[in-house]
Amino acid sequence: MSTLAMCVFLGPWMLLKSIRLNSTPCLLLSDWWMQSAYLDSRMPVAMYTSPGVVLPKMHFQDRQGQMRFAAKLIAGVLDFKSMIDSETLPVEYLGGKPLCMDQYYQVLTSCRIPGPKRDVVMNYAIGKTPPSHITVVHNFQFFVLDVYNSDGSPLTVDQIYVQLEKIWNSSLQTNKEPVGILTSNHRNTWGKAYNNLIKDKTNKESVRAIQKSIFTVCLDAPMPRVSDEMYHNKVAAQMLHGGGSRWNSGNRWFDKTLQFIVGEDGSCGLTYEHAPAEGPPIVFLVDHVVDYMKRTEMVRTPMIPLPMPQKLRFNIPPEIKKDIEKAKQNMNIMAHELDVRVLNFTHYGRKFPKSHKMSPDAFIQMALQLAYYRMYQTCCPTYESASLRMFRLGRTEAVRSTTTESLQFTKAMDDPSKHNSEKAALLEKAIKVHREHTHMAIHGQGIERHMLGLKMMAIEDLTSLPEIFMDTSFAVAAHFNLYTSQVGSKTDCVMCFGPMVPDGYGICYNPMDDHINFAVTAFNSCEETNAMKLSQFLEDSLLDMKTLLEQVSKTQ
Ligand code: COA
Repeated sequence: MSTLAMCVFLGPWMLLKSIRLNSTPCLLLSDWWMQSAYLDSRMPVAMYTSPGVVLPKMHFQDRQGQMRFAAKLIAGVLDFKSMIDSETLPVEYLGGKPLCMDQYYQVLTSCRIPGPKRDVVMNYAIGKTPPSHITVVHNFQFFVLDVYNSDGSPLTVDQIYVQLEKIWNSSLQTNKEPVGILTSNHRNTWGKAYNNLIKDKTNKESVRAIQKSIFTVCLDAPMPRVSDEMYHNKVAAQMLHGGGSRWNSGNRWFDKTLQFIVGEDGSCGLTYEHAPAEGPPIVFLVDHVVDYMKRTEMVRTPMIPLPMPQKLRFNIPPEIKKDIEKAKQNMNIMAHELDVRVLNFTHYGRKFPKSHKMSPDAFIQMALQLAYYRMYQTCCPTYESASLRMFRLGRTEAVRSTTTESLQFTKAMDDPSKHNSEKAALLEKAIKVHREHTHMAIHGQGIERHMLGLKMMAIEDLTSLPEIFMDTSFAVAAHFNLYTSQVGSKTDCVMCFGPMVPDGYGICYNPMDDHINFAVTAFNSCEETNAMKLSQFLEDSLLDMKTLLEQVSKTQ
């Protein structure tokens, strides 16, 4: 039996374990995934692969509030880091099974680095003297902020606040070149500019300082004021791309794994480079930081004066200046292109489907199916991320939410010839099937990563690609018009990401007990998609599904 056939027989578990029947060593499936989904992609990371997280609006409106909040946030992340450093992070569980915690060790002190054909992610935490600084960016200017005292203790909130003030005061001018915006470019374009940039010794040292830092904090300028209704949409855009070159897009280093964003106007959240980790560990970290911030008050303590944080210098030759100009133009086109809607669905949360003995996640997925069907009178390939962290180094599998049963339900829902009891039974059946598929996916019985493994093996073995991968139906089935993920958290936040295909939607949701936060994205250049319209269909679908179940329960 060939290696390929044997892998089909043994399933994805074998691929995950990286066992090859011939003696050639091979990559883990998680490495293949990281390469094919992220590092090989030449699209800009901003908007295309890097998610944003929108936190609730903070009640500060000035620079002091911004500094205080940022200082507490930094202290909170350092508190989380202490659990990583001492390996005391509590193990997470899914369905009673322990999960691989490796991703937590990849998100701090790491950075993506552009390469000619493929990027790499460097983790600088591994080594004898791991970095002890973060980078802070304000008015497009980067600073190194040492966050540990000489005895190894982390700086207090008070100390951090004083250091942030120094940074703020020495970066008042806004006329600096936004060198960070280069990282938002197409990867090949950025890769070329990167090699030019680091030819200069000062630039190289500055870039290394950013790459090696534990994380980055972006102190953002206020964004244009919008109505309360539009506020979360605007913040989601700010987290995803910074709002364009006039606003905060140059106040980023998009290759950095973790960038916390604190705006002077009370907007806050983060963006993260997706290659090293999935959303759930990131929001778990956010939960810890938010909890820490609630517990911690700033106490004025006598302080030994700390040195001025080091400003990172860049020498910008004319060629790089041109690259920056092009990156600005490109970013403005991208920012204009993305339509982001945050829907705070307040009518009910995950308690409701639970009270009807239904899986909340599957219920929401069926609402998405119904919304799409109502908008387009057809269904589409739908991707839902499911965790593979029950396996060592596991990343994600996909659940395909569109099934025969989901279509039967969506068709029946608006069919006047169907009784409510019939519609409810179809909903129940569709949810049951979705839940079964989810169970299979998280237990390594899905097909998507298995197919990826087979394809990568064929490529690596230089055998001809099996015909299935060239088949049009294979491409059609992988054209996910709905690209969705649940990223649940204790914090009332929502993650957001761009669509996977030009004529599709990116949908992320956080089901809380009594409400659900959604972020829906689409591209403005696509005439067929409309994030606001789909959000409206989604809200109506969720309401109609509730009414349906309540009416049926009453008659039983
Ligand atoms: N009756 C009553 N309660 C039910 C139920 C039913 N029939 N079915 C499920 N529930 C309960 C569950 O017990 C669970 O309870 P808890 O809140 O007390 O833990 C809760 O409802 C939620 O379960 P459910 O909605 O079914 O699914 P889930 O929360 O396990 O989420 C996935 C499903 C696929 C999202 C999850 O398994 C997963 O993989 N998450 C990671 C996604 C990811 O990695 N995304 C990456 C993005 S970058």
